[in-house]
Amino acid sequence: PVPRPLAGKRVLITAGPTHEPIDPVRYIANRSSGKQGFAIAAAAQAAGAEVILVSGPVELSDPQGVTVKHVESARQMLEQVQASLPADIAIFAAAVADWRVANEGEQKLKKTSAGMPPLQLVENPDILATISKLTDQRPPLVIGFAAETEHLIDNAKSKLARKGCDWIVANDVSPATGVMGGDRNTVHLISRKDSEIAVDSWPVMTKEQVAIELVAHVAKSVTDKSVD
Ligand code: C5P
Repeated sequence: PVPRPLAGKRVLITAGPTHEPIDPVRYIANRSSGKQGFAIAAAAQAAGAEVILVSGPVELSDPQGVTVKHVESARQMLEQVQASLPADIAIFAAAVADWRVANEGEQKLKKTSAGMPPLQLVENPDILATISKLTDQRPPLVIGFAAETEHLIDNAKSKLARKGCDWIVANDVSPATGVMGGDRNTVHLISRKDSEIAVDSWPVMTKEQVAIELVAHVAKSVTDKSVD
């Protein structure tokens, strides 16, 4: 029989970018293909989990056997994540836009001789931090991502503390790596070990392999916990 180490577990995953409207035809967004998050959803499903994938706009087809909720903006993503709780494991791989436009235009903004339209930005909710800090419905294992172009490990360690999650998957997305939109990823798994922070650096892998490896770590942690 196929091993299904996550049978009976509910895994909630975010993936892709968010689009924050400027007006009906324009938006601001982060670069994200959604490939890594979709690969994690497929790997968790293959491991026997019930998977809910909340995805921003991507050009990928829904993974088989996964419940996919499609959203556009960060606020919609948070809403769908909250509506999908409770979960045993939450993995936040989405590249959420940090800001949205406060003065969203109801009509397409026009070029005028008066100069550029001023864009006022306001901060979006931080989905990872919001869910990590829940007191009642916090998933027992919350995993965030840290895409950085410099000071990868240090930034990821401080993110772990600031966001209040359990693990961070840190990846180098500087342009030379080709990670953005590409099929490969070099990641470091950063986790709390007692009062220490452990850094586990993985070799270069495809995003599918990263997903399988991450799901294997999740399965191990879930099994270890249930033995205690
Ligand atoms: O702060 P930064 O965006 O680098 O943090 C990355 C992690 O936080 C990722 O796991 C991302 O999915 C999550 N995040 C989020 N909501 C935001 C911003 C980031 O869930 N508004």
